[in-house]
Amino acid sequence: MERLQKVIANSGYCSRRKAEEYIQNRKVYVNGELVTEMGMKVHYDDEIVVNGTLLNSKEDKEYYLLYKPEGVITSVKDEKGRQTVVNLVDTTARIYPVGRLDYNTTGLLLLTNDGELANILMHPSHQVEKLYLAKINGILTPQEFMRLKKGIVIDGRKVVPSYLKVKKENRESNTSSILIGITEGRNHIVKRIFEHFSYKVIHLKRETYAFLNLQGLKPGEYRRLSIKEIKKLYALK
Ligand code: URA
Repeated sequence: MERLQKVIANSGYCSRRKAEEYIQNRKVYVNGELVTEMGMKVHYDDEIVVNGTLLNSKEDKEYYLLYKPEGVITSVKDEKGRQTVVNLVDTTARIYPVGRLDYNTTGLLLLTNDGELANILMHPSHQVEKLYLAKINGILTPQEFMRLKKGIVIDGRKVVPSYLKVKKENRESNTSSILIGITEGRNHIVKRIFEHFSYKVIHLKRETYAFLNLQGLKPGEYRRLSIKEIKKLYALK
């Protein structure tokens, strides 16, 4: 169960603030009944009508796996008119990204208009693993590697990589590539992890998201998820 305004916003119909306005103005019906209180909790399967529009039913849901290229923003719209990940997908559905990748980060990004699934995937308790390949301007010392493996504290909260492996070391250019698994969703988390050891991330690519990978896709390309994959993502709950 989720708060009504959150479910409306997650459907992509409007912002949460706008949803609150609709509720206040008595423009929202749940399962045929007019909503008169703000804090109501609903299920994603409930029939919700906002200002005369029935919110997406399951049949209208769309699910995409995008290989995000560099130089694209992870949002629905950009005030400065820059390209967004949503622009890369040819659909009229109001899809949005599940979580975010930085402007210069490449790799696997899911987009959907299924707020329930997006919520499941982003909820910290579900610990969905994401594998990142990070190229850094240095080579971790064995001590740093062990410290990182055991977990470090960032902004007062511990982060323990679910996976950690050095893939490449180049002593000439003094760079290395590290595959690191993260199960949390804090912004810039991988960059902050390496900053903790005074390294800069030169390239960052998300290789996997749960059991999904980028196989068969080039940067900028995408595909729809299969029913089997969608069910498997739901099962992460
Ligand atoms: N961590 C980062 O630092 N950047 C991303 O884009 C994703 C994870």
